[in-house]
Amino acid sequence: MSRKERVYKIGEEEALRQKQIIEELSSSFQGKGLSYFIQTFGCQMNVRDSEKLVGILEKLGFSLAVKEKEADFIIYNTCCVRENAEQKVFGRLGSLKSYKEKNPHIKIAICGCMMQQENVLKEIKQKYRHVDLVFGTFNLYKFPELLQTHLETNQMVIDIWKEHQEIVEDLPSIRKDTFKAGVNIMYGCNNFCSYCIVPYVRGRERSRLPEEILAEVQRLVADGVKEIMLLGQNVNSYGKTLEQDYSFPDLLKDLTHIEGLERIRFMTSHPKDLSDELIKVMKESNKICRHLHLPVQAGSTKILKAMNRKYTKEHYLNLVKKIRSAMPNISLTTDIIVGFPGEHENEFQETLDLVQQVKFDGAFTFLYSKRTGTPGATMEDQIPEEKAKKHFNELLSILDSIVYENNLEKKEEILQILVEEANQENQTILTGRSDTNHLVHFAGDSSLVGKIVPVKITDAKPYYLIGELIV
Ligand code: 5AD
Ligand code: SF4
Repeated sequence: MSRKERVYKIGEEEALRQKQIIEELSSSFQGKGLSYFIQTFGCQMNVRDSEKLVGILEKLGFSLAVKEKEADFIIYNTCCVRENAEQKVFGRLGSLKSYKEKNPHIKIAICGCMMQQENVLKEIKQKYRHVDLVFGTFNLYKFPELLQTHLETNQMVIDIWKEHQEIVEDLPSIRKDTFKAGVNIMYGCNNFCSYCIVPYVRGRERSRLPEEILAEVQRLVADGVKEIMLLGQNVNSYGKTLEQDYSFPDLLKDLTHIEGLERIRFMTSHPKDLSDELIKVMKESNKICRHLHLPVQAGSTKILKAMNRKYTKEHYLNLVKKIRSAMPNISLTTDIIVGFPGEHENEFQETLDLVQQVKFDGAFTFLYSKRTGTPGATMEDQIPEEKAKKHFNELLSILDSIVYENNLEKKEEILQILVEEANQENQTILTGRSDTNHLVHFAGDSSLVGKIVPVKITDAKPYYLIGELIV
């Protein structure tokens, strides 16, 4: 048996063990009308992890609480990419103290990326003794077992692993929507961008086996899912850790053959690894959505080098040209960090110049946040907050007008919209997304939720489009 087969074998045994524990525990929770509340911070990976936790909680006999402070089980699934997200978690956790004092039976669990940092763990042990379970990103699947240990000992249970051990497939999970789903294709990241804490808290890159992914997607489609979002920190390097020669474009090609699957999305793409083969596969398939989220982070080659991004401004611009000449209607979105060490006026102007050249359809902008343990944190030439904020606002206003102008160009176009929801107050207003990932509001019957329908764009707003259903 190869090392990889062994890893998967252990994974299978682990899944069985956890399922058995769920069964044992459920008799003490079922039928008591217990409820849970889960707050997810951060990215799509965390959203997917939370679906797995919800799956376990529901199997145990908990149902979704209306309010946090009515729940019997509260979980925070945390993010540590920026410091203010961490502060928010500590604030919320502090406010649970009196709730737990009044309701000693409730359980509080905290998990996710923040827990992988030693200083965070220390702070929780010292100041947040009302927390019952603490676990990290590598052992989320052990939640049933950790809960069992806590119930037996009535102590705070902490289990944080430094590295990933096995990939555990096939535990229960409850998906938020019935018609679209996120699917992990890989975990971790090897890139070590110098501002980013992710490689330290999510570990090295590991790809799931293609057959596991394909089988999961087949099951989803049989359950009525029309759109999948393939998830990974750097999907373009999918397959590099597999024994067989199999790449991300190979996976996409195989997925396009699944009958009934209508849309395939993926994120995140790293510009240094985006291959010509990927562009070709995208172009040749009408199931792969015409949208690429391609984080540029900065426009100055000097800053990109300091960020360890391994591409230049010119490389990025050429890549955009290549993508657009293959797929003229594709929409491009990005992430940009403002205020990285050394980013003064000239460097910032390069970002503005790039943004104006590319004319993105959307962007997430972030103020640089110093993360202890990353190379960026000890770099000289840190940028004063005031200056970074000024640049941030300038960038935001330029991006807003670019995105709005792009939206205006969509007027009169007919887009295929996957209807995601009906407005809560007015059920005749629907919201959905085009394959270019544009958000569109239009009038229609709520029975259309989950269907793909043609909509003519009649108006554009800065952040969304308005349309009319074509019947
Ligand atoms: N400060 C600000 N933004 C960051 N990101 C990652 N780390 C940091 C940091 N230390 C942003 C990057 C990444 C996105 C998910 O978060 O733009 O693409
Ligand atoms: Fe962080 Fe860079 Fe990896 Fe993205 S590619 S998770 S920014 S280290």
